[in-house]
Amino acid sequence: MKNKILITSALPYANGPIHLGHLAGCYLPGDIYYRYQKLRKRDAIHICGTDENGIPITIEAEKLGKSPQELVDNYHEKIRKSFEAFGIVHDNFSRTSTPLHHKNARDFFTRIYEKKYIVNKTIKQYFCPRCNRFLADRYIEGTCPYCDSKEARGDQCESCGRWLDPENLVSPGCKICGGTPVLKETKHWYFRLDVMQPQLEKWLLKKDNWKNNVKKFCKGWFKEGLEPRAITRDLTWGIPVPLKEAKGKVLYVWFDAPIGYISSTMEWAQRIGKPDRWKDYWLDSETRLIHFIGKDNIVFHAMVWPAMLMAHGDFVLPSEIPANEFLNIKGGKFSTSRRKAIWLQDTLELFDPDLMRYALAVNLPENKDTEFDWNDFQSKVNNELANILGNFINRTVSFIKSNYSSRVPLCKALSNEDNKMLHFLDETKKSMEEKIEKFELKKGIKTLMDLAKAANRYFDKEKPWETKRNAPEKCANTINTCIQVTDALASLMEPYLPFTSKKILKILNIEKNEWNRVGIPRIPGNKEIGKVEILFRKVENEIITLQKEKIGEEEKKMADRISIDEFKKVELKVAVVESAEKIENAQKLTKIIVDIGGEKRQIVAGIAENYSPEELVGKKIIVIANLAPAKIRGVDSNGMLLAATKDNKLTLLTIDKDIDSGAKVS
Ligand code: 2FM
Ligand code: ZN
Repeated sequence: MKNKILITSALPYANGPIHLGHLAGCYLPGDIYYRYQKLRKRDAIHICGTDENGIPITIEAEKLGKSPQELVDNYHEKIRKSFEAFGIVHDNFSRTSTPLHHKNARDFFTRIYEKKYIVNKTIKQYFCPRCNRFLADRYIEGTCPYCDSKEARGDQCESCGRWLDPENLVSPGCKICGGTPVLKETKHWYFRLDVMQPQLEKWLLKKDNWKNNVKKFCKGWFKEGLEPRAITRDLTWGIPVPLKEAKGKVLYVWFDAPIGYISSTMEWAQRIGKPDRWKDYWLDSETRLIHFIGKDNIVFHAMVWPAMLMAHGDFVLPSEIPANEFLNIKGGKFSTSRRKAIWLQDTLELFDPDLMRYALAVNLPENKDTEFDWNDFQSKVNNELANILGNFINRTVSFIKSNYSSRVPLCKALSNEDNKMLHFLDETKKSMEEKIEKFELKKGIKTLMDLAKAANRYFDKEKPWETKRNAPEKCANTINTCIQVTDALASLMEPYLPFTSKKILKILNIEKNEWNRVGIPRIPGNKEIGKVEILFRKVENEIITLQKEKIGEEEKKMADRISIDEFKKVELKVAVVESAEKIENAQKLTKIIVDIGGEKRQIVAGIAENYSPEELVGKKIIVIANLAPAKIRGVDSNGMLLAATKDNKLTLLTIDKDIDSGAKVS
């Protein structure tokens, strides 16, 4: 069976919400393409799910003081819901924590292990003595040896996109404690990418229709020569390696994640009650497997994953990988971990999803990075969606309502102009098909807008408001043509603006769009149309100003926040005050001797105006025990006590129930 299309969108990490950068990178393009294929009645499915294993998850969980499970449960649901609200349609949205996926990933590993594409090596890996753990991938940061970026991670440099090994980093540092890691022996399992190179190269050579960014990337890699890559990690969160001698190790997240596409398709097949249906896609070499991704995922989808599939042998290989560049804000990259982003869920609270879908679609980073700007968003909504597209449809249906009692006027003999207009529908459809098939989605939406512009010009030129009086038949023809154009617009916009398209169908009293009928009038004369509804509300200046102010606020808050590990560095203990005396010539200072679990310390504190020495003796207070010693007014102070202050009032922090001095406070 030919013409099966298996569309996947990169599985987002369940470590944060979806932002506009994600949407422009792959989710909106994947959805537009899928909706288009479905409209054309092709046998297509769209598969996705959350990526729930690996270090991106554990790092974020540790940062928030949550368990990885809590984190992924929370974000899986949030991401699923926000996709749905944005109109992203998936046949299945799974997660890589399901037992089915764990089994698939382990079986995949075992299969290629048995075929001898996996070998083990004892290597020296960075280990943080202070944290007492191996530092895999993102737990280590340093300078990129290729582009000098200071924020390269142990697995990849986001600046230049290189796939790295931690040993490649210049001046490596532990991400958790900032300490300097040391190299220590550990055993890992490696996928023989080197063996796969000839096969991969031959296969990629045939992909001459692929985007330049993808081809260029791969060529660079081949030139350097592929090397075996570690596909196991020393971590407790993830899919255990299915080998006895690999106890305590899990699969590298980039090994299991793409297998998630297969698992999600299997889950879909089970859900629809046809458990073997996934095979029709994955086991048929005629299937077009299309991976929508962002450019930071190229190496994994265009090289590692195809090599894994080749090594496995059963599954179809990717046919296209339309990778987008990045959408940036204020000159920089969106970043989930740094919370530098415009979140999808926030925009959904403010705007109809189609407004953002449009603004992103006309600005997709297809060939180069693009920038999101709120003023630009406003101008696109107000000047393009509302003033051009919305205006044409509104003037057409309003005219029918006020002049023809909401019934489409009958059309008799069409003029040249009318025919030209109708002919343009077919041309637009063909042109959009050509573009969308080539993944030129930005051009696709621009072609649609050209039709809306042409339709407005036609309306202006035909002047139905005049012909209604002096040439009623001509007026009827014009308006009948305009309603056919409106209907065509609804079909053609569905992949991009599905919510608006639905509203138009409601106005036209029509059940569904028919892509293949665009250009052939299908709205009969005399048909009653529904309530006129404004399609696009203009965006006011105030709301834009507010959005602009919001950018950067959250990032700043994040930057000021400390991690749980940083907090843990402060050693708080219960201490009992043994003696206290005021310091001469220092009105506010008291010198106290405390006992911290047997250890005596002298501390100077600014509490003389609030507590007399007698009051202090015997009190159990909280002190910072690991503060560097200092001299205050010439007196040694070795620690610090905790007190709450407000408006010149001061009260010491004491304990609620009795406990021995030296007890740890956390
Ligand atoms: O970059 C990311 O967000 C990854 N979670 C994408 C994974 S795609 C796939 F292979 F699952
Ligand atoms: Zn450390």
